[in-house]
Amino acid sequence: MFVATKGGLRRPGGAWVVDGDPGWLRLSCERSLQSLRTDCIGLYQLHAVDPKVEFQRSLEALIKLQEEGKIRHIGLSNVSPAQLEQALSATLIASVQNCCNVFDKRDFHNGLIDFCQARRITYIPYSPVGGHHDHARLSREPLLLQLAAKYEATPHRIALAWLLHKGQHILPIPGASKTASIRDSLQAANLALSAEDIAAIDRLPDR
Ligand SMILES: NC(=O)c1ccc[n+]([C@@H]2O[C@H](COP(=O)([O-])OP(=O)(O)OC[C@H]3O[C@@H](n4cnc5c(N)ncnc54)[C@H](OP(=O)(O)O)[C@@H]3O)[C@@H](O)[C@H]2O)c1
Repeated sequence: MFVATKGGLRRPGGAWVVDGDPGWLRLSCERSLQSLRTDCIGLYQLHAVDPKVEFQRSLEALIKLQEEGKIRHIGLSNVSPAQLEQALSATLIASVQNCCNVFDKRDFHNGLIDFCQARRITYIPYSPVGGHHDHARLSREPLLLQLAAKYEATPHRIALAWLLHKGQHILPIPGASKTASIRDSLQAANLALSAEDIAAIDRLPDR
């Protein structure tokens, strides 16, 4: 079991507010250590870059937590290629967690995914089947329905298999509230898509 979590957001009244202040990152990490009943978190990710806080200061807070042994690896989330490069000049970055799925391929287009591969950084696509609210769109996409029929799979499995085929450094994290979804998604790891079908999904327009 490898535990990964994030810090850098607040939830006032259920909203999501970015807060990359070093003191808040430290407090969030310490609360996570307590909740997880552990001394060290395997991967601690900065949830987003806070435009109100100098990025370097947020990074230094994570570097300090790492030096103290409270986190093993540092990851980033919701970052651009330029932000990743800036972070790499300060410390080692183990992973990047960004939104990526068959309808949102911006990190393929902007070179971030290739850059991660070259630098041996794990790329973690979040909302890999389209997100909690939008995943049903997969089941309305004619190409995915056609491929699901061809491979005797679900459109969700096809979408996850496509991500897995795009690079060994890609680790999609599908969310689920039903065990049936988890069981289905797990089978994506054993689904071999043809190069032609991967290219057809590559050509699906972003939304
Ligand atoms: N870093 C960030 O800023 C950020 C932002 C958003 C999300 N995330 C993370 O990304 C992960 C997943 O994201 P997400 O939940 O937004 O999006 P998602 O994985 O694209 O979508 C989850 C939804 O898809 C359904 N689903 C998943 N696999 C399925 C399958 N094989 N068959 C049928 N339905 C399936 C689930 O249904 P059921 O509920 O019915 O099982 C759930 O409603 C979570 O760990 C989340 O914390 C990170």
